[in-house]
Amino acid sequence: MTEPVVDVHLTEEDARRALRGDALVGLTADPKWLPPRWFYDARGSELFERITELPEYYPTRAERAVLEAYAAEIAALTGARTLVELGSGSSEKTRLLLDALRGHGSLETFVPLDVSASALREAAGLIAADYPGLTVHGVVGDFTQHLELLPAAQPRLVAFLGGTIGNLLPTERAKFLGAVRDVLDAGEWLLLGTDLVKDPGVLVAAYDDARGVTAEFNRNVLHVLNRELDGDFPVDDFDHVARWNAEDEWIEMRLRARGETRVRLAALDLDLRFAEGEEMRTEVSAKFRRERVDTELAEAGFALTRWWTDPAGRFAVSLARAED
Ligand code: SAH
Ligand code: TRP
Repeated sequence: MTEPVVDVHLTEEDARRALRGDALVGLTADPKWLPPRWFYDARGSELFERITELPEYYPTRAERAVLEAYAAEIAALTGARTLVELGSGSSEKTRLLLDALRGHGSLETFVPLDVSASALREAAGLIAADYPGLTVHGVVGDFTQHLELLPAAQPRLVAFLGGTIGNLLPTERAKFLGAVRDVLDAGEWLLLGTDLVKDPGVLVAAYDDARGVTAEFNRNVLHVLNRELDGDFPVDDFDHVARWNAEDEWIEMRLRARGETRVRLAALDLDLRFAEGEEMRTEVSAKFRRERVDTELAEAGFALTRWWTDPAGRFAVSLARAED
């Protein structure tokens, strides 16, 4: 088997420095908050894979149904020689795209990019083993920072699946889409997975499953802080909260202190206090309507070429072309 190349644009030292900065800003803010990328250490990536198999967590299955139905059309429309995947995780669903592009005869290179080095290396290794002749060029990096470093045989198709775009705040989202457009030439492609607005009961259940896997995933960020910043968060004294914010049309994930809690992060020389019931926001997961996706893509310089949903209309995949 051909060993996959893995470029590391984000070393553990870079990541620790970034975490220190984010923790200092977010944990001293009122209300406290943290950016979501810190969920994904090796354990966080494993917990996310378990989330994708939960009965309540429909987005993975719904997106897979779209890719099953339309991957051949995506391959024919794009003729991509390079498939780039941002926030690739296990790249499981991505195999549908790899199969279709290979069947079409255009595919040469697969470039998965993820902050989680463990998930990236595992996925790159499995895919290199299963796709002989495919050049697999993994990148450990941050999709908000390292896009200009992506390798390229054109035309490229950049896939951003799983609804991960919803984990960016609206201003971050605009910046991110603009940055993706900037690294592409006109005529190259973006394939974007977005979860759709629906019954709040269905949405909340997807982020607060009965078995508590999502709760464990959410609390994992506290384990990361304890380990990386020499902290003493009493992890089990925080409850998982998932709430639908109807105004912003996003799910908010929070951690709520059960009682008054004092925490020290020795690496930052930072002492924190949580009041009883105080909540810290750990993630948003925005839900979309077609008009919003269309508008945000257009504002970034993309034209929406195809819009597909699963049969139940829960999740959408958009194919967009970089415009001149
Ligand atoms: N695409 C996969 C995984 C989605 S979970 C799927 O559809 O199932 C979100 C993924 O994005 C995780 O693998 C996480 O490690 C990665 N991620 C989160 N923030 C990131 C960032 N800033 N840069 C790169 N990857 C990131
Ligand atoms: N991209 C996923 C989503 O927004 C990430 C995710 C799923 C997630 N479940 C979660 C993040 C629970 C935090 C907590 O759907």
